[in-house]
Amino acid sequence: MRILNNSVSWITGSTGSIGSATCKVLAQAGSHVVVSDIDFDRAKDLSIQLKDEGVEALPLQLDVSDQKAVENVGKIIKKTFGRLDILVNGAGISPKGEQGRVPVEDMDAEEWLRVVNINLHGAFYCSQVAVRLMKENAGGHIVNIASQAGRSYSPVTGAHYAVSKAGLISLTRQMAGELGPSGIYVNAVAPGRIDTPMIKDVPEEVNRQIVNNIPLRRLGTPEEVANTIQFLVTPQSSYLTGVVIDINGGRLMM
Ligand SMILES: NC(=O)c1ccc[n+]([C@@H]2O[C@H](COP(=O)([O-])OP(=O)(O)OC[C@H]3O[C@@H](n4cnc5c(N)ncnc54)[C@H](O)[C@@H]3O)[C@@H](O)[C@H]2O)c1
Repeated sequence: MRILNNSVSWITGSTGSIGSATCKVLAQAGSHVVVSDIDFDRAKDLSIQLKDEGVEALPLQLDVSDQKAVENVGKIIKKTFGRLDILVNGAGISPKGEQGRVPVEDMDAEEWLRVVNINLHGAFYCSQVAVRLMKENAGGHIVNIASQAGRSYSPVTGAHYAVSKAGLISLTRQMAGELGPSGIYVNAVAPGRIDTPMIKDVPEEVNRQIVNNIPLRRLGTPEEVANTIQFLVTPQSSYLTGVVIDINGGRLMM
Protein backbone atom coordinates (compact mmCIF):
# COMPACT_ATOMS: atom_id res chain seq x y z
CA MET A 1 0.00 0.00 0.00
CA ARG A 2 1.56 3.29 -1.10
CA ILE A 3 0.92 6.28 1.13
CA LEU A 4 -0.90 8.39 -1.51
CA ASN A 5 -2.75 5.54 -3.26
CA ASN A 6 -5.93 6.60 -5.11
CA SER A 7 -5.33 10.30 -4.52
CA VAL A 8 -5.23 12.87 -7.32
CA SER A 9 -2.48 15.52 -7.46
CA TRP A 10 -2.32 18.56 -9.72
CA ILE A 11 1.12 20.12 -10.20
CA THR A 12 1.54 23.39 -12.09
CA GLY A 13 4.86 24.15 -13.74
CA SER A 14 5.11 20.39 -13.60
CA THR A 15 7.77 19.86 -16.24
CA GLY A 16 10.38 22.15 -14.69
CA SER A 17 13.18 20.83 -12.50
CA ILE A 18 11.33 20.98 -9.17
CA GLY A 19 7.93 20.31 -10.75
CA SER A 20 9.01 17.10 -12.48
CA ALA A 21 10.81 15.84 -9.36
CA THR A 22 7.58 16.51 -7.42
CA CYS A 23 5.46 14.66 -9.99
CA LYS A 24 7.80 11.65 -9.74
CA VAL A 25 7.81 11.55 -5.93
CA LEU A 26 4.01 11.83 -5.73
CA ALA A 27 3.49 9.21 -8.47
CA GLN A 28 5.90 6.85 -6.68
CA ALA A 29 3.75 7.32 -3.57
CA GLY A 30 0.73 6.15 -5.61
CA SER A 31 -0.96 9.43 -6.56
CA HIS A 32 -2.50 10.00 -9.97
CA VAL A 33 -1.02 13.17 -11.44
CA VAL A 34 -2.40 16.06 -13.47
CA VAL A 35 0.74 17.23 -15.27
CA SER A 36 0.02 20.83 -16.24
CA ASP A 37 2.58 23.18 -17.75
CA ILE A 38 2.71 25.95 -20.33
CA ASP A 39 4.89 23.54 -22.37
CA PHE A 40 2.55 20.75 -23.51
CA ASP A 41 5.19 18.64 -25.29
CA ARG A 42 7.19 18.31 -22.08
CA ALA A 43 4.00 17.56 -20.13
CA LYS A 44 3.22 14.72 -22.53
CA ASP A 45 6.75 13.27 -22.25
CA LEU A 46 6.69 13.41 -18.45
CA SER A 47 3.25 11.78 -18.32
CA ILE A 48 4.55 8.80 -20.26
CA GLN A 49 7.34 8.36 -17.69
CA LEU A 50 4.92 8.71 -14.74
CA LYS A 51 2.66 5.96 -16.06
CA ASP A 52 5.56 3.55 -15.44
CA GLU A 53 4.81 4.06 -11.72
CA GLY A 54 1.41 2.44 -12.27
CA VAL A 55 -0.61 5.65 -11.89
CA GLU A 56 -2.73 7.74 -14.25
CA ALA A 57 -0.97 10.82 -15.61
CA LEU A 58 -2.95 13.48 -17.46
CA PRO A 59 -0.88 16.01 -19.45
CA LEU A 60 -2.48 19.43 -19.88
CA GLN A 61 -1.32 22.66 -21.47
CA LEU A 62 -1.94 25.48 -18.99
CA ASP A 63 -0.77 29.05 -18.61
CA VAL A 64 -1.60 29.65 -14.94
CA SER A 65 -2.01 33.38 -15.50
CA ASP A 66 -5.01 32.70 -17.76
CA GLN A 67 -7.90 32.48 -15.30
CA LYS A 68 -10.39 31.05 -17.82
CA ALA A 69 -7.95 28.29 -18.79
CA VAL A 70 -7.43 27.48 -15.10
CA GLU A 71 -11.21 27.18 -14.59
CA ASN A 72 -11.32 24.82 -17.54
CA VAL A 73 -8.61 22.61 -16.03
CA GLY A 74 -10.81 22.33 -12.92
CA LYS A 75 -13.64 21.01 -15.11
CA ILE A 76 -11.31 18.53 -16.81
CA ILE A 77 -10.04 17.23 -13.46
CA LYS A 78 -13.61 16.82 -12.19
CA LYS A 79 -14.65 14.98 -15.35
CA THR A 80 -11.56 12.75 -15.52
CA PHE A 81 -10.95 11.87 -11.87
CA GLY A 82 -14.05 13.16 -10.03
CA ARG A 83 -11.85 14.54 -7.23
CA LEU A 84 -8.73 16.51 -6.33
CA ASP A 85 -6.66 15.87 -3.20
CA ILE A 86 -3.42 17.77 -3.75
CA LEU A 87 -2.44 20.98 -5.55
CA VAL A 88 1.19 22.04 -5.85
CA ASN A 89 1.56 25.60 -7.16
CA GLY A 90 4.97 25.32 -8.80
CA ALA A 91 4.73 27.44 -11.97
CA GLY A 92 7.13 30.33 -11.69
CA ILE A 93 9.50 32.59 -13.59
CA SER A 94 12.42 34.73 -12.46
CA PRO A 95 13.47 36.90 -15.40
CA LYS A 96 16.78 38.75 -15.35
CA GLY A 97 18.49 41.22 -17.66
CA GLU A 98 21.78 40.68 -19.47
CA GLN A 99 23.66 41.91 -16.42
CA GLY A 100 21.65 39.82 -13.95
CA ARG A 101 18.70 41.13 -12.01
CA VAL A 102 17.14 44.38 -13.20
CA PRO A 103 17.08 47.13 -10.54
CA VAL A 104 13.69 48.51 -9.52
CA GLU A 105 14.24 51.89 -11.18
CA ASP A 106 14.88 50.25 -14.58
CA MET A 107 12.24 47.55 -14.35
CA ASP A 108 9.64 47.50 -17.05
CA ALA A 109 6.16 47.73 -15.53
CA GLU A 110 4.85 45.09 -17.94
CA GLU A 111 7.56 42.69 -16.85
CA TRP A 112 6.62 43.34 -13.23
CA LEU A 113 3.01 42.45 -14.01
CA ARG A 114 3.99 39.33 -15.99
CA VAL A 115 5.96 37.94 -13.05
CA VAL A 116 3.28 38.71 -10.48
CA ASN A 117 0.56 37.37 -12.80
CA ILE A 118 2.31 34.01 -13.18
CA ASN A 119 3.92 33.51 -9.76
CA LEU A 120 1.18 34.92 -7.54
CA HIS A 121 -2.08 35.42 -9.42
CA GLY A 122 -1.66 32.04 -11.12
CA ALA A 123 -1.41 30.31 -7.74
CA PHE A 124 -4.49 32.22 -6.57
CA TYR A 125 -6.54 31.13 -9.62
CA CYS A 126 -5.46 27.48 -9.29
CA SER A 127 -6.09 27.48 -5.54
CA GLN A 128 -9.63 28.79 -6.01
CA VAL A 129 -10.44 25.98 -8.42
CA ALA A 130 -8.71 23.41 -6.19
CA VAL A 131 -10.52 24.48 -3.02
CA ARG A 132 -13.92 24.12 -4.69
CA LEU A 133 -13.03 20.56 -5.73
CA MET A 134 -11.46 19.71 -2.36
CA LYS A 135 -14.52 20.88 -0.46
CA GLU A 136 -16.51 18.27 -2.39
CA ASN A 137 -14.41 15.51 -0.79
CA ALA A 138 -14.01 17.21 2.59
CA GLY A 139 -10.32 17.97 2.50
CA GLY A 140 -7.06 18.26 0.66
CA HIS A 141 -3.60 19.77 0.59
CA ILE A 142 -2.22 22.83 -1.18
CA VAL A 143 1.53 23.41 -1.26
CA ASN A 144 2.88 26.67 -2.65
CA ILE A 145 6.44 26.78 -3.92
CA ALA A 146 7.56 30.15 -2.59
CA SER A 147 11.22 31.12 -2.23
CA GLN A 148 13.81 32.33 0.21
CA ALA A 149 13.57 35.54 -1.85
CA GLY A 150 10.07 36.02 -0.41
CA ARG A 151 11.46 35.76 3.13
CA SER A 152 14.45 38.08 3.01
CA TYR A 153 16.46 40.40 0.77
CA SER A 154 17.79 38.58 -2.27
CA PRO A 155 20.92 39.92 -3.99
CA VAL A 156 20.23 37.90 -7.17
CA THR A 157 16.51 38.09 -7.99
CA GLY A 158 14.44 41.01 -9.19
CA ALA A 159 11.99 42.80 -6.87
CA HIS A 160 9.04 41.50 -8.93
CA TYR A 161 10.04 37.91 -8.14
CA ALA A 162 10.67 38.58 -4.43
CA VAL A 163 7.35 40.40 -4.07
CA SER A 164 5.43 37.64 -5.86
CA LYS A 165 6.91 35.01 -3.53
CA ALA A 166 6.27 37.12 -0.41
CA GLY A 167 2.67 37.43 -1.61
CA LEU A 168 2.49 33.67 -2.02
CA ILE A 169 3.60 33.19 1.58
CA SER A 170 0.91 35.58 2.74
CA LEU A 171 -1.68 33.77 0.60
CA THR A 172 -0.57 30.51 2.22
CA ARG A 173 -1.21 31.79 5.73
CA GLN A 174 -4.48 33.48 4.83
CA MET A 175 -5.85 30.39 3.11
CA ALA A 176 -4.62 28.05 5.86
CA GLY A 177 -6.58 30.08 8.41
CA GLU A 178 -9.72 30.19 6.27
CA LEU A 179 -9.64 26.55 5.19
CA GLY A 180 -8.44 24.67 8.28
CA PRO A 181 -12.04 24.10 9.45
CA SER A 182 -12.77 22.49 6.05
CA GLY A 183 -9.91 20.00 6.37
CA ILE A 184 -7.85 21.73 3.71
CA TYR A 185 -4.17 22.16 4.59
CA VAL A 186 -2.26 25.04 3.00
CA ASN A 187 1.51 25.17 3.39
CA ALA A 188 4.51 26.55 1.56
CA VAL A 189 8.09 25.60 0.91
CA ALA A 190 10.71 28.31 0.53
CA PRO A 191 13.66 26.89 -1.40
CA GLY A 192 16.98 28.69 -1.29
CA ARG A 193 19.51 28.04 -4.06
CA ILE A 194 18.43 24.85 -5.85
CA ASP A 195 20.56 23.36 -8.62
CA THR A 196 18.27 24.00 -11.62
CA PRO A 197 18.52 26.04 -14.86
CA MET A 198 16.71 28.91 -13.06
CA ILE A 199 19.88 29.72 -11.10
CA LYS A 200 22.26 29.36 -14.06
CA ASP A 201 21.45 32.82 -15.45
CA VAL A 202 23.99 34.49 -13.17
CA PRO A 203 27.79 34.19 -13.48
CA GLU A 204 29.13 30.96 -11.95
CA GLU A 205 31.18 33.04 -9.52
CA VAL A 206 27.94 34.38 -7.96
CA ASN A 207 26.69 30.84 -7.24
CA ARG A 208 30.14 29.92 -5.84
CA GLN A 209 29.99 32.84 -3.42
CA ILE A 210 26.47 31.90 -2.39
CA VAL A 211 27.56 28.30 -1.70
CA ASN A 212 30.37 29.62 0.53
CA ASN A 213 27.70 31.25 2.69
CA ILE A 214 25.51 28.15 2.97
CA PRO A 215 26.25 26.18 6.17
CA LEU A 216 25.87 22.86 4.28
CA ARG A 217 28.26 24.22 1.59
CA ARG A 218 26.28 23.05 -1.43
CA LEU A 219 23.24 23.85 -3.57
CA GLY A 220 20.00 21.98 -2.92
CA THR A 221 18.52 19.46 -5.35
CA PRO A 222 15.02 19.41 -6.89
CA GLU A 223 14.49 16.02 -5.20
CA GLU A 224 15.12 17.58 -1.77
CA VAL A 225 12.36 20.10 -2.44
CA ALA A 226 10.06 17.36 -3.80
CA ASN A 227 10.60 15.18 -0.70
CA THR A 228 9.60 18.07 1.57
CA ILE A 229 6.49 18.66 -0.52
CA GLN A 230 5.62 14.98 -0.22
CA PHE A 231 5.98 15.19 3.56
CA LEU A 232 3.52 18.11 3.58
CA VAL A 233 0.80 16.17 1.72
CA THR A 234 0.93 12.95 3.76
CA PRO A 235 -0.54 12.13 7.19
CA GLN A 236 3.02 12.44 8.58
CA SER A 237 2.43 16.22 8.71
CA SER A 238 -1.15 16.01 9.99
CA TYR A 239 -0.83 18.95 12.44
CA LEU A 240 0.97 21.32 10.07
CA THR A 241 -0.89 24.04 8.27
CA GLY A 242 0.07 27.62 7.43
CA VAL A 243 3.77 26.83 7.74
CA VAL A 244 6.62 27.83 5.47
CA ILE A 245 9.39 25.24 5.38
CA ASP A 246 12.78 26.71 4.48
CA ILE A 247 14.86 24.41 2.28
CA ASN A 248 18.19 26.20 2.06
CA GLY A 249 20.99 24.25 3.71
CA GLY A 250 20.82 26.56 6.72
CA ARG A 251 21.41 29.79 4.79
CA LEU A 252 18.45 31.60 6.30
CA MET A 253 17.65 31.13 9.94
CA MET A 254 14.69 33.16 11.15
N1 LIG B 1 15.56 26.89 -8.67
C1 LIG B 1 15.61 27.55 -7.52
O1 LIG B 1 16.69 27.81 -6.96
C2 LIG B 1 14.34 28.00 -6.87
C3 LIG B 1 14.44 28.62 -5.62
C4 LIG B 1 13.29 29.04 -4.99
C5 LIG B 1 12.05 28.86 -5.58
N2 LIG B 1 11.97 28.27 -6.81
C6 LIG B 1 10.63 28.12 -7.38
O2 LIG B 1 10.37 26.76 -7.68
C7 LIG B 1 9.48 26.68 -8.78
C8 LIG B 1 10.08 25.77 -9.84
O3 LIG B 1 11.35 26.31 -10.21
P1 LIG B 1 12.42 25.52 -11.08
O4 LIG B 1 13.76 25.91 -10.58
O5 LIG B 1 12.06 24.09 -11.17
O6 LIG B 1 12.24 26.29 -12.46
P2 LIG B 1 11.90 25.75 -13.91
O7 LIG B 1 12.06 26.91 -14.81
O8 LIG B 1 12.67 24.50 -14.18
O9 LIG B 1 10.34 25.38 -13.78
C9 LIG B 1 9.31 26.31 -13.92
C10 LIG B 1 8.20 25.66 -14.72
O10 LIG B 1 7.11 26.60 -14.81
C11 LIG B 1 6.62 26.56 -16.14
N3 LIG B 1 5.96 27.82 -16.43
C12 LIG B 1 6.52 29.03 -16.71
N4 LIG B 1 5.56 29.93 -16.94
C13 LIG B 1 4.38 29.29 -16.81
C14 LIG B 1 3.03 29.69 -16.92
N5 LIG B 1 2.69 30.95 -17.26
N6 LIG B 1 2.06 28.77 -16.70
C15 LIG B 1 2.39 27.50 -16.38
N7 LIG B 1 3.63 27.05 -16.28
C16 LIG B 1 4.62 27.95 -16.49
C17 LIG B 1 7.84 26.32 -17.01
O11 LIG B 1 7.48 25.81 -18.28
C18 LIG B 1 8.62 25.32 -16.16
O12 LIG B 1 8.23 24.00 -16.46
C19 LIG B 1 9.25 28.11 -9.26
O13 LIG B 1 8.05 28.60 -8.72
C20 LIG B 1 10.43 28.85 -8.68
O14 LIG B 1 10.16 30.20 -8.49
C21 LIG B 1 13.08 27.84 -7.45
